[in-house]
Amino acid sequence: MTSETPQARAAGPGAQVILGVSGGIAAYKAVELLRRLSESGHDVTVVPTESALRFVGEPTWAALSHKPALSDVWTGVERVPHVRLGQQADLVVVAPATADLLAKAAHGMADDLLTNTLLTARCPVLFAPAMHTEMWTHPATVANVAVLRSRGVVVLEPAHGRLTGADTGQGRLPEPAEIAQLAELLLRRPDALPPDLTGRRVLITAGGTREPLDPVRFLGNRSSGRQGFALATVAAARGAQVTLVAANVELPTPAGSELIPVGSAEELRAATHAAAKDADVVVMAAAVADFRPAVPAEAKIKKTGAAPAAIELVGNPDVLVELVQARSAGRLAAPVIVGFAAETGDQAGDVLAHGRAKLARKGCDLLVVNAVSEGRVFGRPDNAAVILSALGAEVDVPLGPKTVLAAALWDAITALLPE
Ligand code: CTP
Repeated sequence: MTSETPQARAAGPGAQVILGVSGGIAAYKAVELLRRLSESGHDVTVVPTESALRFVGEPTWAALSHKPALSDVWTGVERVPHVRLGQQADLVVVAPATADLLAKAAHGMADDLLTNTLLTARCPVLFAPAMHTEMWTHPATVANVAVLRSRGVVVLEPAHGRLTGADTGQGRLPEPAEIAQLAELLLRRPDALPPDLTGRRVLITAGGTREPLDPVRFLGNRSSGRQGFALATVAAARGAQVTLVAANVELPTPAGSELIPVGSAEELRAATHAAAKDADVVVMAAAVADFRPAVPAEAKIKKTGAAPAAIELVGNPDVLVELVQARSAGRLAAPVIVGFAAETGDQAGDVLAHGRAKLARKGCDLLVVNAVSEGRVFGRPDNAAVILSALGAEVDVPLGPKTVLAAALWDAITALLPE
């Protein structure tokens, strides 16, 4: 929520969204973003700059948004679009945001419909920059981004990777799917992306480990890594430096995150302990295998006709418990350590009773408990949860996108972080 916009309205599907597009080569990716926003049921008005139209023409925007895509303030003056669009918007997303557009927005310039809209909008504003690394790191851009962020505007970090030329670096537009997720989050919770993790280093584990059985087989689990990746997306948008230890996740790396891919529990353990050393927060969202085959076969296990041999398993170390112990022993600073748990109720207790017992057993500061039994109030376990705190607090996050749960968890985490 911008500081000029105290009364921003929360809105679900059917919201008025302005998609500003400025003139960078990544304008073509905004077409996919438009589709995603429209398919979520929102009423999207595309406002391209003149330069954006040199990359993607007006007919594309008009056809996909079912309305004209205006750039100038002189068309339909009687409807006063340069004021009305901003006033009526529930969210303004600018993707790609060029260095020039960020400069104009920072200085309150208004020489076309998009910059006028940015001045009249009183809703949350989300910029997804894309430019060459030199332009992004230039002191002028750095200062403009700082000004925008200080006003409560959300300016995402560009992603790393291949740029327009042969070069690579930071400057790519974050994935349209990621921008759409954050847009959806801001529509549901306009206050979900404050810059309160600026300067914090956070470590997130995600996905599910695979324990090798032989060179081609493994024991694994169904974790997709989506919740961990949503946590990374939201943390980076709130200003954190994010390290993402990802076990077998087939998702694009969230912008602003450093990815460390791992396979087995042992690899995850080594990477997590190394990266935890200078982390302020560790979130163990990964599904780590509790057991592994005692001796993985060096060659592929063949059918022999005889009954298959039993697989002998040995226990894996509990990484979360090790982190908590390392902190108690003074070997780790991390003021906040968070665990995840999928639980079912049984004769021994309900989901929350099991969650509380696990929180105490693991010794972490927060535990995110998903209820996985059918018919429970939590419904689908992957995006409804209760956040339990070691201090006794309990936050119920109802069914919703994983970014909404992520935002609630970062709220709980920042409340525990020392100044
Ligand atoms: N975890 C871990 N190392 C392991 C197993 C789990 O760090 N070897 C972490 C997970 O990342 C998660 C938390 O511990 O944050 C809880 O995982 P869960 O599997 O629910 O806990 P378990 O101790 O295995 O309990 P259960 O007996 O219910 O499976």
